[in-house]
Amino acid sequence: MGFFDFLIEEIAIDLGTANTLIIHNDKVVVDSPSIVARDRTSGKITAVGKEAAMMQGKTHENIKTIRPLKDGVIADFDASEKMLTMFIKEIPALKKKLFTPALRMVICIPSGITEVEMRAVKESAERVNGKEVYLIHEPMAAAIGIGVDIMQPKGNMIVDIGGGTTEIAVIALGGIVCDKSVKIAGDVFTNDIVYYMRTQHNLYVGERTAEKIKIQIGAATEDLEVPPDEMSVQGRDLLTGKPKQVNISYREIAKALDKSILRIEDAVMETLSQTPPELAADIYNTGIYLAGGGSMLRGLDKRLSQKTDLPVYIAEDPLRAVVRGTGICLKTLNRYKGILIK
Ligand SMILES: Nc1ncnc2c1ncn2[C@@H]1O[C@H](COP(=O)(O)OP(=O)(O)OP(=O)(O)O)[C@@H](O)[C@H]1O
Ligand SMILES: [Mg+2]
Repeated sequence: MGFFDFLIEEIAIDLGTANTLIIHNDKVVVDSPSIVARDRTSGKITAVGKEAAMMQGKTHENIKTIRPLKDGVIADFDASEKMLTMFIKEIPALKKKLFTPALRMVICIPSGITEVEMRAVKESAERVNGKEVYLIHEPMAAAIGIGVDIMQPKGNMIVDIGGGTTEIAVIALGGIVCDKSVKIAGDVFTNDIVYYMRTQHNLYVGERTAEKIKIQIGAATEDLEVPPDEMSVQGRDLLTGKPKQVNISYREIAKALDKSILRIEDAVMETLSQTPPELAADIYNTGIYLAGGGSMLRGLDKRLSQKTDLPVYIAEDPLRAVVRGTGICLKTLNRYKGILIK
């Protein structure tokens, strides 16, 4: 800790494909969709977060909505930096300051990220005034956020199903022993629903509607204890061109998502098969922890449990587990320095 430490503000960031969360002073101060809206004529960013998300699918030719992250990594650098800058400026405690303070930050990154992508995240963070930037692997942050003691000589399996990627990792002694990252997660589920509606009902629905369907009646299996009611869905009839409404049941969505969920199951099985026997024995006792928004899909925990014959637990607040863990690392930097990437 240096002499000028009182001038430094500390923030923890989960820069996700679907949502960006920031913790400052132990509080989640930003929880917004990772979307920006850009004016095509001036090139200026006109809205970020929730405001930009409202515009999605409803823009005219002068406005374009962009999701700067794809598959867990930055795809549009300019947009992602502007988005981060605007989110940081929105932090209430920093808003009052005359100057943008120097920042000490911990940012999480997918475990399957390349060196180049890692450097890109770091450089972006430095450009938004990050003076001291640490990176942490997402499954590790998720584990800490869930409350797992990752430093123990004990194996734990974490499956983080986000928007862009599903990250599966076995963690022990503060390190990732084996992991797998697949590009099948919430976004793919949403696209599966768009495709299903088009092919089975001749109904063209936008991504926002498909995501609503997923959250309201989405299911990973037809065998649910508390099935949700049917849902009326509106879109455009592909044959007549007229707006139309159809009623959809969760069983249909379970069918639409089946293939993608199979691929997640396969990835979990593959990771389990690569787990060293002593750690496999631990996981037999502790089970699998789920985090990320995708883990809230109805029946997914049950389906994974049946496939693996292991108990499966969903994190308390799955959308915030990663940022919570990142925040804990920031607060106890000395304890976790070994697992952070400088
Ligand atoms: N109740 C729900 N049921 C199913 N899916 C949900 C639910 N709530 C949110 N989601 C999905 O969770 C995803 C977002 O999760 P999360 O915020 O963990 O992703 P992310 O961290 O931004 O992405 P990544 O980690 O891949 O970069 C979205 O695809 C969203 O549609
Ligand atoms: Mg995530």
